[in-house]
Amino acid sequence: MREPKHPDPEKQKIIEEAVRSGQGHVFRWWHEMGEQGKERLLKQLQAIAFRELGELYNQWKGAATPVSEQKIEPAEIISIPKTQEEISKAQRAVHRGEEAIRAGKIAAFVVAGGQATRLGIEAPKGTLKITPVREKTIFEHHSEKILALSARHKTRIPLYVMTSETNDGATREFFELNRYFGLDPSDVFVFKQEMMPALDFKGKLVLDAKDHIFTSPNGHGGSITSLKRAGALADMQARGIEYIFYFQVDNVLIKMADPLFLGHHIERGAEMSAKVAPKRDPEEKVGVVCRVGNATTVIEYSDLPDDYKYARNPDGSLTFSAGNLAIHVLSVDFVERLNTEKHSLPFHIAEKIIPFLDDNGSLVKPKKKNGLKFEKFVFDALSRARATSILEVDRDEEFAPIKNETGEDSPDTARDLMMRLSAKWLEKAGARVPRDSNGRVKGMLEISPLFALDAAMLKAKLPADFEVRFPLYLGPE
Ligand code: UTP
Repeated sequence: MREPKHPDPEKQKIIEEAVRSGQGHVFRWWHEMGEQGKERLLKQLQAIAFRELGELYNQWKGAATPVSEQKIEPAEIISIPKTQEEISKAQRAVHRGEEAIRAGKIAAFVVAGGQATRLGIEAPKGTLKITPVREKTIFEHHSEKILALSARHKTRIPLYVMTSETNDGATREFFELNRYFGLDPSDVFVFKQEMMPALDFKGKLVLDAKDHIFTSPNGHGGSITSLKRAGALADMQARGIEYIFYFQVDNVLIKMADPLFLGHHIERGAEMSAKVAPKRDPEEKVGVVCRVGNATTVIEYSDLPDDYKYARNPDGSLTFSAGNLAIHVLSVDFVERLNTEKHSLPFHIAEKIIPFLDDNGSLVKPKKKNGLKFEKFVFDALSRARATSILEVDRDEEFAPIKNETGEDSPDTARDLMMRLSAKWLEKAGARVPRDSNGRVKGMLEISPLFALDAAMLKAKLPADFEVRFPLYLGPE
């Protein structure tokens, strides 16, 4: 193949660097491309850090998972309060958190740049209809929580939404079309994360069009730099925001800007915090929050040595059981510091199916994994924090991720969990909710966050003799 020549010396340099880095095959269709196509390809190449990509490939080839020499210990956890002293501490934390909310120091930040490959939908995950009775979408459900919490504390809680190249337009349109679900449009800040090219198993970039290199979002950990680059951090600083409540779009049970969590973060002077729940069993595929050396770290399921995975305390509970729920508080100053110190989070490497062009230039989606994707994980920032706060919560009340179309972690399991929680609140308010022997609610049930944000709020609104009749929707209208 003839090496392309470009009249512009700057662009010629890009071509040469790609060729020197062993990626000259991306010019395979150069001679039949129009000017626009050439520009598109060069623009992508210009943004690629070839050396870093080469190092990542070598890391994968070496397949050496760096095993830490340092001792792994369980992290210090703030447990679910049981004693009177713990309960008083928790109440103080709630108070502290609520103060920060009222003072307008809190932003909600949802990462929604993922591709929802397992769920298999084209549209952004947030547009999925999820609530059991009214079939409101995930974005609407989250927005209602923000609205209700803002109203309760007579404040504004801005929402930052991280999208990616593939779903940014559709996300913006969805919010606009739905009038931001009642949020003030000036309080919704949508921004894109960065993309990262994939490599095939031979370390080569993959073309998914003659003039385009396959890329995918660089992981939720990309948010640390994207918050800064996109101006979201500056926007927060201008508003006097001090703490970022981070959550993932697909967790529909999220306790929005939980004052207890915020309060502990503030009281401990933490830079980053995480919510955890006990692992169900040693095999559960969830990262565990641990202490390695002086740092709080999340060790991925696959990286936790068996000795640790199966270790048990004298009472029989798992020693390393703090399952990471992907719910965090990050101090604005911490995110700023990570950016100034140019502490880039590491990439994790995953073998995935990557669509590619065959010799005829047609797009092929292979059945087997054929390449590598690189993603940053936000929890890696925990180990960079000078102080952390790790809070244990009841998973059934706060965690219902939607990952798969059916079965485990699917829309069905999420709806079931939403209804069980609503039922629990109703029961606390004195109502009887028909359930089967497994605790499943025997009908459709939905409580809008605009009606009640928690059990206490529901109890205050319901008459003592309230009767549950399915389908039951409790909402503002
Ligand atoms: P997942 O890792 O579960 O990815 O993301 P996903 O895109 O939802 O689903 P799969 O893996 O393709 O099936 C957890 C959360 O992190 C966000 C997702 O949008 C989701 O809220 N995320 C993930 C990003 O914002 N950017 C990314 O690059 C990856």
